[in-house]
Amino acid sequence: MAPIDLSIDLKFATLKNPIIPASGTFGYGEEFQEFFPLDQLGAFIMKGIYKNRRPGNRPPRIFETPSGLLNSIGLAGPGAEELKSIIRRVRKMTDTPIIVNVCGEEDEEYLEVAEIFDAMPEVGMLELNISCPNVREGGKCPAQDERHTFRLVKLIRQNTQKPLIVKLSPNVSDVPAVAVAAQEGGADAVSLVNTFLGMAVDLKTRRPVFKNIFAGLSGPAIKPLALRLVWLVAQSVDIPVIGIGGISTGRDVLDYILVGASAVQTGTINMVEPTATLRILDEIRECMAELNISNLEQIKGALEV
Ligand code: FUM
Repeated sequence: MAPIDLSIDLKFATLKNPIIPASGTFGYGEEFQEFFPLDQLGAFIMKGIYKNRRPGNRPPRIFETPSGLLNSIGLAGPGAEELKSIIRRVRKMTDTPIIVNVCGEEDEEYLEVAEIFDAMPEVGMLELNISCPNVREGGKCPAQDERHTFRLVKLIRQNTQKPLIVKLSPNVSDVPAVAVAAQEGGADAVSLVNTFLGMAVDLKTRRPVFKNIFAGLSGPAIKPLALRLVWLVAQSVDIPVIGIGGISTGRDVLDYILVGASAVQTGTINMVEPTATLRILDEIRECMAELNISNLEQIKGALEV
């Protein structure tokens, strides 16, 4: 059999492998360099960033559930100026593409932040975070509205040059329609899904655990839900789809590729097993050898129904 080749073609970039740690689960990359070389990754995504420093939500911010994790961090972060310094430092550690997760209170702020990082040669791509469930009342976000998604993506696309990935929400009745709106607005790829809205309650206090009442659920518990949405979206758009949701094994990665994902983002697993990427990459190779395939294109979107 030909040697195993894990590289993937996103049309706008070629990555050495399909593993991209997700925003908010991998710090700013440098925290993980002590566990394994960042060069091992396909790419990695910085924690979401606004123009100014944000303290995030009041604690508690996380709550463990069966096979999952609820979080309500509230996109805490140091602001764009500080992130620029971090990126310059991290760039010296690795050539692996750095993706900046762009946030904004309003469309104007999304644009301002996108332009700041679009101008940085150290940044490879932008991911537009229109799907965080923890910053607006009731978990609302731009990705819940097709027209807003189209308008915002178009605004960013018309004013930036770097490849633009749009991160979608599962908390909407028609995810493929929002994916199509992102594509029509000019997205180069969509990544999905962000976390599912959920909640936890405290029987003693008779209060919700989280100050925002709702929080975002991630982890293995959501994989079947996310896999379905990735499959639906992959059939609806022509741009690459990046699968996210409960990936913790090499087999999970291949499942997402089979339903049409070009690459994947790992999330919650990075918080419980910082070196998970290395294990997952080994497992992908083993699984590919068992399936007698030498590159991922051989199974991409090959699901038969
Ligand atoms: O609360 C948070 O910081 C989550 C961010 C996200 O889901 O994008």
